[in-house]
Amino acid sequence: MKRAKINFDSAITSSEFDDIYFSKDDAIAESTYIFLDNNHLPKRFKESRKNFSIAELGFGSGLNFLLTADLWHKRPLLKLAHVEQVQGAHGAENRSVHEVREDLSTGATQQLPLGVEFRKRSKEEWLNYYAIEGYPMSTPDLARTLSHFSDNLNKEAINYLLSAWDNLKAGINTITFPKLKIKLTLIIGDISEFFTHLPNNSIQAWYLDGFAPSKNPAMWEDYIYLNMLSKSSKEATFSTFTSAAKVRRGLINAGFAVEKVKGYGRKREMLRGQLAS
Ligand SMILES: C[S@@+](CC[C@H](N)C(=O)[O-])C[C@H]1O[C@@H](n2cnc3c(N)ncnc32)[C@H](O)[C@@H]1O
Repeated sequence: MKRAKINFDSAITSSEFDDIYFSKDDAIAESTYIFLDNNHLPKRFKESRKNFSIAELGFGSGLNFLLTADLWHKRPLLKLAHVEQVQGAHGAENRSVHEVREDLSTGATQQLPLGVEFRKRSKEEWLNYYAIEGYPMSTPDLARTLSHFSDNLNKEAINYLLSAWDNLKAGINTITFPKLKIKLTLIIGDISEFFTHLPNNSIQAWYLDGFAPSKNPAMWEDYIYLNMLSKSSKEATFSTFTSAAKVRRGLINAGFAVEKVKGYGRKREMLRGQLAS
């Protein structure tokens, strides 16, 4: 297994690709904006009633994974706690009836009038997160990288990932986070080996994060977009930090509807989209 060579001098940089893993100053806000928000995950996780599947091209430090894990863990799991009847001053005619729902992840309750659609949620909904990584960091480098985020991310998930990292092997690694209801399938290998490991018509969101296309064209070849198409579910979306014309054309030619939207911070543009109808 070939390990990443990391330069920690300023931003966290790959010496091999001469490119950064994420921006130096506001990596969390940047990754959240590019990958979670532009795949509309806050809304989709809230509304989802089933398992959800994501695929990431370039797992790197796992920052995108850990941010996604946090969002998944915090999604509301509403269940009906009880129905409350409140008698008004003028007796039965004025009584009001509410459903009281409990958010299973926080314990908070909320009152909603009867008749509002009740969203049942099962605790057994899992996030299936698939990712490919060709040059995994060593465990000490991964720990050093993630130490930057330990105040803002789920520490238990970070430690769990780090302990699994010691046993990482070439090929398929399945790391289950039972408390978070997440199954991470991390393939250690070249991008060309990724797609055979993904179930057909399953992926609901794609993160394209393989260094800049000018520095690492292997992560942006046209066959990748065609494979993405065959592994996409009907509601699949994608997002990426780049707005390179070659990437945009490749995705369109494969069958995705592509939008250029504002990039994060000083980056003018990025791409996002979904399956073309
Ligand atoms: C920008 S970094 C990803 C950052 C990551 N998403 C995170 O949250 O930390 C790009 C990643 O793509 C990986 N990569 C580059 N070329 C690859 C290839 N041909 N196959 C698989 N992975 C590759 C690199 O090793 C690196 O970890």
